[in-house]
Amino acid sequence: MRILSIALLAAIFAPVDGFTAEPKNIEKSSYGETPDGEEVDLYTLTNAKGMKVKIITYGGIITELWTPDRDGKLADVVLGHDNLKSYLDGHPYFGAIVGRVANRVARGKFTLDGKEYTLLQNNGPNALHGGKKGFDKVVWKATVGEGKKPSLTLKYESKDGEEGYPGKLDVQVVYTLNENQLSVNYSATTNKATPVNLTQHSYFNLAGHNAGEIRDHQLQIFASKYTPTDETLIPTGNIDSVKGTPYDFMEPQVIGKRFGDLKGEPVGYDTNYVLRESKNKEPQLAAKVVEPTSGRVMEVYTTEPGIQFYTGNFLNGKDKGKGGVVYKQYAGFCLEAQHFPDSVNQKGFPSVILKPGETYTQMTIYSFTTK
Ligand code: GLA
Repeated sequence: MRILSIALLAAIFAPVDGFTAEPKNIEKSSYGETPDGEEVDLYTLTNAKGMKVKIITYGGIITELWTPDRDGKLADVVLGHDNLKSYLDGHPYFGAIVGRVANRVARGKFTLDGKEYTLLQNNGPNALHGGKKGFDKVVWKATVGEGKKPSLTLKYESKDGEEGYPGKLDVQVVYTLNENQLSVNYSATTNKATPVNLTQHSYFNLAGHNAGEIRDHQLQIFASKYTPTDETLIPTGNIDSVKGTPYDFMEPQVIGKRFGDLKGEPVGYDTNYVLRESKNKEPQLAAKVVEPTSGRVMEVYTTEPGIQFYTGNFLNGKDKGKGGVVYKQYAGFCLEAQHFPDSVNQKGFPSVILKPGETYTQMTIYSFTTK
C-alpha cells in the first residue's frame, strides 16, 4: 500500500515528459504574428555549460547567442532585435538564413539550360540575398529534437518561380547545439535545375552585441586566395593571391588595422575568400576569431568552398537593436560560409546548380572556446 502511494505521488508530481529531473534543453514560446497572420515561434536551446541560442521561425533568425568569456561570464554575441516588429520593419539580414541564392547575382540575370532568368535588382544594379522576400523573410516550419544535443529542424518549401528562380525547392536547415558548438546543417532538393547557395548571416561581436566596434578582434582566415570585385561587389572572375595585400589573414591580424589600405566605399571588408576549389564532404577550419578583452574565441568550420568576410560597413546607426542599442558601422562582423558571389554567371567558379535527383548539402559549425 505504502509503495503504491509513493508510486502514485511520484506519478502525480512527475513532469509530463517523464520522470527525468534534467532541465529541458529546448523550449518554445510565441514570438507574434506576421501581417499575413502566420504565427512565429521562438525556440531556446541550452546546453549544460550555459551556452544558449535563441532562434525564431521567421527567417530562421538567430536572435541571441550566449557564450561564456574566460571567467565564465555569459554575453550575447550576435546583433539583432528583441521583437518581431523590428525584424519585419527591415534589417540587414541580422542572424538570418539567406537564400535561395546568397550574395550577389550580376544585374539580376542568369541563363540556365538556354533560358534567361530575371531576378529583382535589389542592390544597385545587382540581385542580393534571394530577392524581395528571400528565405530570411519567410516563416519556416519547425520540429525539435531533444536529448543530449538539442536541435531545431526548420523546413521551407520555395515555390517554382519564387523570386524568379526555377523549380520547387524543398529546403531544410538543422541547428544543433553540441557542447560549445552551434552547427548549421543545410539540405535541399528541387524538381527543376536551379541555382542554390545558402548561408547564415549572423553578425558577431565576441565582446557582446552592445560592446561597440569589432575592429580590435583578431582574425585568421585559412585562405590564400580571394575573389576581387568591381565597385558593385561583383567578382571580376579572377582568383587572386592575398599575399602582399590587406586581404591576407593567413596569420592572425587585427581586423581594423589595414582598413586604411582598402579600396572602395564604404571602407571595410566585404570579401569572398577561396577556401577550396569545390565543396568538401566534412567541415574544415575556415576562420578563427579572438576577442582579446573577453578571451572569447570563435572558430568557423565549413564544407563550403568560400566564406564572405563582412565588417558591417553598411551599418550606419539606423538599426536600433536589442535593449535599444544603436548598431553603428563595424558593430559586428559576418563570416558567411557559401559558394562564391555571382557563381551562376562565372564559368571559373564552383557550380551552384542543383539538379532534380541531387541533394544540396552544406554544413557550417561555429565553435566557441576561450583563451
Ligand atoms: C552581405 C554582403 C554585404 C551587405 C550585407 C548586408 O554580407 O556581402 O555587402 O549587403 O550582406 O547588408
